[in-house]
Amino acid sequence: MSKIAVMGFGVVGSGTVEVIYNSKESIERKIGEPIEVKYILDLHDFPDSPYADKLTKDFNDILKDDEIDIVVEAMGGLNPAYDFCKSCLLAGKSVVTSNKELVAAKGAELLEIASQNNVNFFFEASVGGGVPIIRPLHMCLAANEINEIAGILNGTTNFILTKMIREKMTFDEALALAQELGYAESDPTADVDGHDSCRKICILASLAFGRHVYPENIYTEGITKITAEDVEYAASWGGAVKLIGWAKATHKNGVKESDVVAMVCPAFISSDSQLASVDDVFNGILVRGDATGDVVFYGKGAGKYPTASSMVADVIDVAKANGTSQTLTWVDSNQDFLIDYKEAELAKYVRAECENKDDAKQLIQREFGEVTLLSRKNCPKNEIAFVTPIMAEGKIDEHIKKLKDGGMTILSTIRVLDY
Ligand code: HSE
Repeated sequence: MSKIAVMGFGVVGSGTVEVIYNSKESIERKIGEPIEVKYILDLHDFPDSPYADKLTKDFNDILKDDEIDIVVEAMGGLNPAYDFCKSCLLAGKSVVTSNKELVAAKGAELLEIASQNNVNFFFEASVGGGVPIIRPLHMCLAANEINEIAGILNGTTNFILTKMIREKMTFDEALALAQELGYAESDPTADVDGHDSCRKICILASLAFGRHVYPENIYTEGITKITAEDVEYAASWGGAVKLIGWAKATHKNGVKESDVVAMVCPAFISSDSQLASVDDVFNGILVRGDATGDVVFYGKGAGKYPTASSMVADVIDVAKANGTSQTLTWVDSNQDFLIDYKEAELAKYVRAECENKDDAKQLIQREFGEVTLLSRKNCPKNEIAFVTPIMAEGKIDEHIKKLKDGGMTILSTIRVLDY
């Protein structure tokens, strides 16, 4: 009999309990024994819940109960999730979590503790919601050197961008709807400012490159500065604006254990890319392996049941592991393999105001050589927009500074990524 405890009875925790009981028979067939949720830890009362008899407010009920060998963490945030998960692992209980903040900040340490205690620390639900990506990256693609990962990793921002473009909703209306649907974080600034995507690309990069990548070392920009004009220019260029988390092995030093550059930013993505058509709450994650070439994972990246699906899959895997440690691995690191993002080679879309368009074009050509000029309907006479050639981001910024010095006012710049 697998007896489990669920910590946190919000959107994901309650979804996990529901999925376990809705699919109990098939889950039991898969693990070969009965399964039961013995405790649900939450500080709130849920008197009308069919699972009210399982509720406790005391973490020690779970920690001290030897019958509990799998703990599902769906509380979110670092505290007290970190202490609780660590205590469970040290007590010989496997932990399954959807908490990307926890995995991105403490993954290396918790993986090590799990391994030392011969238990499992699984987190399929921490990236991509219902999209399988952690296990495929770790297992099915294990033969590959991963050269690059790029993805639309946040369902809320993708939902907002889609609603703003397709249904002309305002940012606030689209965000309110995402919150109502259970997509957004409790503090949605983590979504719109890019921190949620940052945590997720850190988890994927750590797994792909074997060394922990910490979120504070990754340049992160959200979607709050994207304007309707930028979206129009993206369409006229032949693509869409998407919030992308990406990490790339640079092989700068010519070694296989490569340096890595990573970033989260809004980006122009060509309509030819599979990521351009990832809309709504969907996530799309492209993994570029040396043997496979590109592999793309796609599905619902947020929401109660998609995320619960990944949580329960982890529970099933832990139960099937039958007391052995199948733990995923990466090691802690001093971050010396991370390259300054200004060295990344890319292009940028630039929108600017100028006094005289012909003069501005000459200045742009002097700085950048040939650029792709863009147009949009009802463009004001003094507005100019273009896409630069590909070069190191730092170099592009130096040229943009010269445009400013030459009298142009830069209204927006957005990276152009080639996926
Ligand atoms: N707020 C997150 C998102 C939830 O929108 O993607 C899933 O991690």
